[in-house]
Amino acid sequence: MKPRKIKDNIYWMGFVDWDTRLFDSLIPLPDGTSYNAFLIKGSEKTVLIDTVESKFFYELEAQLESVEKLDYVISLHAEQDHSGSIPHVLARYPDAKLITSAKAKGILMDHLHVAEESIITVEDGETLSLGDKVLEFMYTPWVHWPETMVAFLREDNILFSCDFFGSHIATSDLFITDEARSYEAAKRYYAEVMMPFRKVIKKNLAKIGKYDIEIIAPSHGPLIQRPSFIIDAHNEWIDDLPKNKVIIPYVSMHSSTRKMVDYFVSALVDRGVSVQQFDLTVTDIGKLAIALVDAGTIVVGSPTVLAGPHPLAAYAALLANALRPKARFLSIIGSYGWGGRTVEILSSLVPNLKVEVIEPVLVKGAPRKEGFAALENLAETIAVKHKEQGLR
Ligand code: FEO
Repeated sequence: MKPRKIKDNIYWMGFVDWDTRLFDSLIPLPDGTSYNAFLIKGSEKTVLIDTVESKFFYELEAQLESVEKLDYVISLHAEQDHSGSIPHVLARYPDAKLITSAKAKGILMDHLHVAEESIITVEDGETLSLGDKVLEFMYTPWVHWPETMVAFLREDNILFSCDFFGSHIATSDLFITDEARSYEAAKRYYAEVMMPFRKVIKKNLAKIGKYDIEIIAPSHGPLIQRPSFIIDAHNEWIDDLPKNKVIIPYVSMHSSTRKMVDYFVSALVDRGVSVQQFDLTVTDIGKLAIALVDAGTIVVGSPTVLAGPHPLAAYAALLANALRPKARFLSIIGSYGWGGRTVEILSSLVPNLKVEVIEPVLVKGAPRKEGFAALENLAETIAVKHKEQGLR
């Protein structure tokens, strides 16, 4: 794709990646993604903000064909999907300097072997004059690495936010045209990438509040012309109060756990609790991550396999532990044949979760009347606790 004009002398560059389906060998990309870079031509200096994955440099190289002189490359975030082509760009423009945060400097030198003499570091709040335009840098740590920062172009009121406010969508649209689709993709992105840093994000959102932002230009997905749309969404997601919702990631081998899940879902719905269940053998793990953003309770369903939880249930527990959702309660349901340590092992996998563990329900073999009664009790306990804590 050719460079695309955002405003006079400000262009989108980068690569729209329609085909990748697994990001960082970790995150599902049902809709692909993009790696956005931005060229700003000031009256005196020209800068490129971020680059693209190294393997996609050929596209950025073609986009830079008409750019004779580049004064600076700015790295807002050192992760390779944005920094990977920096060495190629610096090779093409040997006089250009790389501007980044003090923390990013070492990371870029370690991961990309950028020469120290090419790098200029900027402090929080420092500015860079391009002549008729001024970029202001703001440190926004942990969105989602320790070195991340954003840049605000004062004259044009554009916030270049890198991963912050991003969404994994490959699209030919420069700006968001479908807010509902973007909301889902941005929530997925937040859940998978940003959620562990919810508390810091709150501070960063407050920090950028001082800017009069007209356009947010993230490094993934379309640009945002209505900043309040995405800022309000983030404020909703980081809010401490979860929803009156239970999510049930589960796996069943011989239908016993499945029968328990079905019964339990119905018992919760009867009590006015909303539920999402995820069969871990087929679910898109990103959908599970989205549900974790605002669930009040997580209930893991697992059979006992070789004396412990099914590995997929263990994976879901580890994922929840890593993403640190704001859920307040946790329980476990499932079936066993002759014993095991399913509850003990699953419980040990979630030390990061600040949850109250509600008495699990494990039954021997297929569930009987007593097992279903225990599930009724569990549903009632959860409904009462949600009500007590004001979850809606
Ligand atoms: Fe899009 Fe953290 O890189």
